[in-house]
Amino acid sequence: MAQTIAVLDFGSQLTQVIARRIRECQVYSKIYHFSTPAAKLREEGVIGIILSGGPQSVYARTAPHPDPEIFQLGVPILGICYGVQLMGHFLGGKVAHSKAREYGHGHLTIKQPGRLFAGLPRRLRIWNSHGDKLTKLPPGFKATAISENSPYSGIEDARRRFYGIQFHPEVFHTERGVDMIRNFLVGICGARQDWTTRDFIAHAVADIRAKVGRSRVLLGLSGGVDSSVAAALLHKAIGRQLTCVFVDNGLLRKGERQYVEALYRRNFKIDLRVVDASRLFIRRLKGVVDPETKRKIIGRTFVEVFEKSLKSIGGAEFLGQGTLYPDVIESVSIAGNPASLIKTHHNVGGLPERMKLKLIEPLRELFKDEVRAVGSALGLPREVVWRQPFPGPGLGVRVMGDITAEKLEILRNADAVLQEEMMASGYYWKVWQSFAVFLPVKTVGVFGDERTYDYVIALRVVESIDAMTADWARLPHELVQKISSRITNEVRGVSRVVFDVSSKPPATIEWE
Ligand code: XMP
Repeated sequence: MAQTIAVLDFGSQLTQVIARRIRECQVYSKIYHFSTPAAKLREEGVIGIILSGGPQSVYARTAPHPDPEIFQLGVPILGICYGVQLMGHFLGGKVAHSKAREYGHGHLTIKQPGRLFAGLPRRLRIWNSHGDKLTKLPPGFKATAISENSPYSGIEDARRRFYGIQFHPEVFHTERGVDMIRNFLVGICGARQDWTTRDFIAHAVADIRAKVGRSRVLLGLSGGVDSSVAAALLHKAIGRQLTCVFVDNGLLRKGERQYVEALYRRNFKIDLRVVDASRLFIRRLKGVVDPETKRKIIGRTFVEVFEKSLKSIGGAEFLGQGTLYPDVIESVSIAGNPASLIKTHHNVGGLPERMKLKLIEPLRELFKDEVRAVGSALGLPREVVWRQPFPGPGLGVRVMGDITAEKLEILRNADAVLQEEMMASGYYWKVWQSFAVFLPVKTVGVFGDERTYDYVIALRVVESIDAMTADWARLPHELVQKISSRITNEVRGVSRVVFDVSSKPPATIEWE
């Protein structure tokens, strides 16, 4: 049996981040509902428990409480934030209810390192986010660290191996937070650090098989990182029970469909159905200028085509999706965030309910970099695993104004030149996104002895960490020059290339 660290989830948005930090320490953890009976944790061979943070007050009528028996299991427990309040509440300390939340940076002074703070400097920057506060220690506990706002920022009962910290060690803003978590896992719980991406895959495969049984799974493959890795993982688990559908909406980049077919059908031997719906999409988009209307039409048509192809395949019980953890938080917490739009698109709007499909999302707990590691371990090529993001509505939002086959063709060719040069120079891997945009503006040019009157292509190349903010990439002038002259020479219909030097904000990454 794997050595398991149980993370009891009291509703913090950071619970998954705790799980991620534990994986970084190469230890296996599992997130459990806060009310999971202690007996079940014992049965599952749990060697340590972390009580997550949570938004409630321990005194609230609806406050989530753990099974009190967990404190009798004899395994080490680490309470984080709300978790410390719970320890205070259940073990005989006192917790003061406060209406104001303490939020943001603070400083920790370690008084007695003990095992939790072993090997750390005495003063550290920390990050807080809590309302209630521990005001009296439970019997058996002592304070090990203080902060400007609390004499009980770190507490321990070394005999029972109970530890508590008022701040959040899992967030990046807490200095050496991962070391505190590692100290708990390894120094206190005695965990072996042998959990790897391969183990994740083995577990995920077993879970998928148990969940799916003999049923069929359908997955909409977009060619992006998330759906590609989900497809490879599902395929490893259930082979031919998985059918992938790739919709050619006529808004793809040059050679994209052929690439996806070659990779999945030939290399991976995945049952891949390619549906060519390009004419339908282009017909419906005819004359449409407004970007949001374009998105709606593309989204709706996609769902329709996808639904039809599901029926023609003969139906299935499960819909596979490459949902990642950030999609999960963004879609619940930050309304209006563009990232939640991404989610809506990939979620094939309401399809699971309409077709009575159960969802299977094997990457739901992972972060992007972890998904990339899984993809690499599954044998996906670097071009897929490190692919730049591409919007669901594709070139539909990169042809300004109304979309025609001619404009798409020009954009595709210009974009292919840009990508080739980005790849050849290695800059493709260094930037967040690089793409061409079609401007429906005709400008005057000269070609040989003749005057021309042709379209403009804009190059958009940006650096970013998470797409929330971005800045234009300072590409070497020689590279920009080469891309520009190749486009004007090789792409018929273009006589002028411009480089977009706007940051986000105030501009967005895409032009529409
Ligand atoms: P913006 O243009 O809002 O883009 O700065 C942020 C990130 O989101 C991508 N994007 C989309 N992705 N459907 C998608 O799936 C969309 O409608 C969409 N709009 C923007 C964009 O490529 C960038 O990575």
